[in-house]
Amino acid sequence: MQNRYFIISAVVALLFVGAVVGYAIPEEKQEVPARIILDNTGGRVVFSHRTHADDYGADCADCHHDGLEGREYLPCGACHPAEFDETFRREHPKAFPDKEACLRCHDEVPTGPLPEDERPDIESIPTRGEAFHSLCMGCHEENGGPYGEDACYQCHAR
Ligand code: HEC
Ligand code: HEC
Ligand code: HEC
Ligand code: HEC
Ligand code: HEC
Repeated sequence: MQNRYFIISAVVALLFVGAVVGYAIPEEKQEVPARIILDNTGGRVVFSHRTHADDYGADCADCHHDGLEGREYLPCGACHPAEFDETFRREHPKAFPDKEACLRCHDEVPTGPLPEDERPDIESIPTRGEAFHSLCMGCHEENGGPYGEDACYQCHAR
């Protein structure tokens, strides 16, 4: 009898410790947002993020071509700014948790200002508006969903 109480107490204690540790260690995976609000000059877009992944059969990697498999899901705007201006040049290195991301655009990890001829070719990197329109509408044209000249307000709020 004694022995059984001991075992039960030990199990309860273990469960308690497990719960406390589980609570204290931050969740490793980023939370997958259900809905994302994208504010922009064309009018706010409410994007049904989880529905796209769960019900419309899109893979995470169809849209997140960067930051997969154990790495963070980087916000698209870190690499696709509204324009490649002075603000982008100054701020963008702070947007990445690891140096590996630099190599998406740079030949090697830059350590300071770059001469003109070592800067990445911005012609080959779509801006935020271009990246979103080609991603969203490219898939919609093939698989359903709003696209084309008349569809603006199916995505954008007036
Ligand atoms: C149809 C395209 C699409 C699919 C499919 C998709 N996502 Fe996303 N996801 C986005 C967009 C767009 C954003 C907003 C990024 C931004 O605000 O710059 C986003 C944001 C996120 C964020 C927040 C990142 C941040 O801080 O901005 C996480 C985490 C994420 N997605 C995870 C996932 C996972 C995991 C899957 C697969 C189960 C998935 N996504 C599928 C398009 C998609
Ligand atoms: C770490 C930087 C980085 C992040 C984060 C990133 N991109 Fe890109 N993206 C690029 C680069 C660089 C290109 C240019 C072509 C290439 O290298 O693949 C590109 C190209 C694209 C293209 C052109 C067609 C293609 O697929 O190659 C689209 C569309 C696109 N990105 C959408 C997105 C969206 C949407 C997100 C967020 C869910 C995102 N990108 C996040 C760097 C990034
Ligand atoms: C999405 C592509 C992209 C990624 C990812 C990226 N860069 Fe850049 N970077 C650029 C572009 C484009 C320029 C040049 C901008 C211009 O021509 O105005 C640049 C310029 C620079 C410069 C030169 C600024 C100047 O004033 O001469 C530095 C330094 C730099 N990047 C550091 C980094 C570091 C560090 C990382 C990773 C932590 C990184 N970049 C990731 C695209 C990127
Ligand atoms: C990989 C394919 C794919 C991509 C990428 C994609 N969509 Fe969709 N989307 C769909 C499909 C499939 C539907 C459903 C069509 C139907 O059933 O009528 C849809 C429907 C929609 C709808 C109408 C229904 C709803 O859920 O709100 C909106 C708005 C929408 N998408 C916005 C976006 C935006 C914004 C993006 C880019 C960030 C995007 N989609 C990227 C496949 C995609
Ligand atoms: C499938 C949904 C969808 C459709 C259809 C659509 N857009 Fe967009 N649009 C977006 C998304 C998503 C963004 C990027 C939001 C962000 O930057 O956060 C965007 C961005 C924009 C921007 C801002 C560009 C920038 O670089 O800041 C303008 C302007 C715009 N759209 C106009 C239009 C017009 C005009 C049409 C119709 C011809 C249209 N859009 C159709 C989803 C859509």
